[in-house]
Amino acid sequence: MPEERCLVICKSTTDMLRADREMRRRGFAFRAVPVPGELGSVCATALEIAAAEAAAVEELLKESKVGVISIAPAPRTRLAELMQKLDGKRISLRFGQIMEKLQEGVALDREDVLDLLRVEDGSDGEALFQAGDLMRKRTVGDTVDVRACLEFSNYCRKNCLYCGLRRDNKGLARYRMTEEEIMAVAVKVHKAGIRTLILQSGEDPYYTEADICRILREIKQRTGMRITLSIGERTKEEYAAFRAAGANNYLLKIETVNKKLYSYLHPGDRWEDRAKHTGWLKELGYVTGTGNIVGLPGQTIEDLADDICYFRESGVHMLGIGPFIPAPDTPLAVYPPGSALMTWKVIAVARLAIRNVYIPSTTALATLDREAQKKGLAVGANTVMIIVTPEEYRDIYRIYPNKMAVDLNWTLEMIGELQRKQPVGIKTTGCV
Ligand code: 5AD
Ligand code: SF4
Repeated sequence: MPEERCLVICKSTTDMLRADREMRRRGFAFRAVPVPGELGSVCATALEIAAAEAAAVEELLKESKVGVISIAPAPRTRLAELMQKLDGKRISLRFGQIMEKLQEGVALDREDVLDLLRVEDGSDGEALFQAGDLMRKRTVGDTVDVRACLEFSNYCRKNCLYCGLRRDNKGLARYRMTEEEIMAVAVKVHKAGIRTLILQSGEDPYYTEADICRILREIKQRTGMRITLSIGERTKEEYAAFRAAGANNYLLKIETVNKKLYSYLHPGDRWEDRAKHTGWLKELGYVTGTGNIVGLPGQTIEDLADDICYFRESGVHMLGIGPFIPAPDTPLAVYPPGSALMTWKVIAVARLAIRNVYIPSTTALATLDREAQKKGLAVGANTVMIIVTPEEYRDIYRIYPNKMAVDLNWTLEMIGELQRKQPVGIKTTGCV
């Protein structure tokens, strides 16, 4: 039986960060996890501790005057009706054992994760997707979270082997949006009723700390939207400044947990540094995103299982899981793309293993095939990012070719077809 766990839910993010500091100082083992939807709170992050230490932690936090809402057993999401749903399906013995664990709310171990990724595209495969979808419904509900992504610069100082924006790709026309252009899009997105704006770019130091802070403040002031930054690696001080200026979320994908593969794909970079950045972001109170690329040359199914275990251990709130798409004019141009099937499996298994996280059905999946993105939403994903980059730039934000222009209409169509719910406030006749 896995050890019983408790969740510490604090009154505010400041309280949570203070609890984090105090517990770290006293040597308590804990992990930051998203607050389960059904418990809802002002602060999106809870601290998960061993139930046996709950009394000691409670005393410590009282002594330190940290505002705590509750310290209570972590809800076990039991998929009570799962086996019933799968009844009559010809599932294998091993698959059935793992499903029983899920039915009882028992955490999956690495072997379970690996075996689930190995299921064939037959009855087990279908059942896996059904289970992923059920877990999605149970943990994050039916609303598909729609976020807008503005790609404001395609300059990049890095040279990732798989990416069309890499600095050595001299054939690509480059652009940077002005602050006025960025603001015009932000206002439009807000008018369409969208609540989160993702500001994404290559790693472009042209935008200084002060520039990004000014942009964040102005967007916040004029629209009040949640803002996600996805601008690559910066210093800890810069992350702190962005947070103070209004950034809520930060997306920084680990891409792969295979360290050898990581350093091959990212010349001059160390995996440990990347992981350290995620730690900083969490420490600073960001709702933090990580993720991987599925089907990278040289990646094994064991690597993918390790990715999922790492996602769980890192206690992040968002997982961007997308297939590898070979990009022309990059060293990986001749390799085959990642498969939609494996990407769906990684989404479903991540949902089953980690449960309460935001998982987008990615643009990369839509680029493989429009229907593939819809299926991503039907196997465990709960978020879609629509692209709101102005048309004149959209085509040259060319991470990979033929990038699908995921828009609001298509997204609402998918939501309707899947009989899911659209976020409140979205204007169906929007202007994005
Ligand atoms: N195929 C799939 N995903 C890619 N990315 C970059 N290049 C590719 C590619 N060729 C993803 C990376 C990065 C995000 C901005 O785009 O995961 O984090
Ligand atoms: Fe730059 Fe990101 Fe592309 Fe790497 S993946 S080259 S950091 S835009």
